[in-house]
Amino acid sequence: MTTVAKGLEGVVAATSAISAIENGMLTYRGIDIDVLAERSNFEEVVYLLWHGRLPKASELEALRSALIEAAGVPEDVLAVLRRAPQNTHPMTVLRTAISALALYDAEAEDMSEAANIRKAVRLVAKTPTLVAAWQRIRSGEEPVAPRSNGSIAESFLTMLHGREPDPTHVEALDKAFILHADHEFNASTFAARVTVGTLSDMYSGVVAALGALKGPLHGGANEQVMAMLEEIGAPDRVEAYIRGKLERKERIMGFGHRVYKDGDPRAKHLREMSRRLTESIGESKWYAMSVAIERLVGELKGLKPNVDFYSASVYHSLGIPRDLFTPIFAISRMAGWTAHILEQYSDNRLIRPRAEYVGPSNVPYVPIEARG
Ligand code: CMC
Repeated sequence: MTTVAKGLEGVVAATSAISAIENGMLTYRGIDIDVLAERSNFEEVVYLLWHGRLPKASELEALRSALIEAAGVPEDVLAVLRRAPQNTHPMTVLRTAISALALYDAEAEDMSEAANIRKAVRLVAKTPTLVAAWQRIRSGEEPVAPRSNGSIAESFLTMLHGREPDPTHVEALDKAFILHADHEFNASTFAARVTVGTLSDMYSGVVAALGALKGPLHGGANEQVMAMLEEIGAPDRVEAYIRGKLERKERIMGFGHRVYKDGDPRAKHLREMSRRLTESIGESKWYAMSVAIERLVGELKGLKPNVDFYSASVYHSLGIPRDLFTPIFAISRMAGWTAHILEQYSDNRLIRPRAEYVGPSNVPYVPIEARG
């Protein structure tokens, strides 16, 4: 008799030293995410995830320089974006563009650890450039080159809007990047590990991850949250809308979690950011609606918001279009995916579970001319 763990719930598939969810707390390499969100920056977190410890000042500087240097994307890859139908979803474009990057990476098939770390740098550096370039191209504008100074958050907002970003927006996006950077064996990270567990290359691993992140039960939820807020439209319409949805047994996006049952530790940071940022743009209604939804869903279903819920109104306040929310998640999670790919390679074993067969047996083969 086998026990089937549907959705692999509760299955511990491997050991990992990258991030941990324990007692409702999330840590990266043993450091509490709350501390990192308050005191660190995304580049430092990228280093931490890859190398297992915080960088010294010179190491951080070297990583920042390497990221800036690697941020440009080949014109041939931009040409793929220029030829894509304008209404293609940004996650579809990003998945395709990241795959296309491998065509122009001379080290794409080099499986040495040193080459894989260099590819990880390129992937983290180029993802924001691709996301911003698609936004410009689909709007009929020329992509803006990445900055030659500053952080990834600063460069991304500059490339997206074509102007110097508001420092408070840079700070908020940087914090959102920290909070989304890794999350143990979530679906997209697991997809990446399964892929490279066959000793396939790093690009294949992150393309698999992008495909998994896109779905609304995972990273795609943040876009759906904003769609819901826009559909509701005003705080006084929350009650009827949410009750109606729950009566129809529909899911409320941005709520619930496979692992956290007592609340997602990342959500409180995003809630506070949402409060401040929506107020700063004179659109507090998004925060007011979100708080009302949180209260009601908690009361009616006992569910708490996850990382995707308040990030929606945060990204909206930064002037980011709704369908770019999941690509923003991907910019950050690229750090975690590549860290997990490096870890998988370092002690690899093929990931190959079993299925309990429930189909028919002893079925005779009927020749085609005899099939009714
Ligand atoms: N709204 C309404 N009901 C829900 C929700 C929700 N958001 N989440 C779970 N439930 C109910 C579900 O209907 C089921 O009820 P019943 O037992 O009566 O059929 C029960 O809770 C268990 O649901 P499940 O789908 O078996 O739980 P899971 O652990 O497989 O799902 C989840 C986790 C995150 C997919 C789910 O909570 C969900 O669909 N949430 C909405 C999508 C979302 O916000 N995803 C982002 C996840 S966190 C960040 C990320 O990874 O991107």
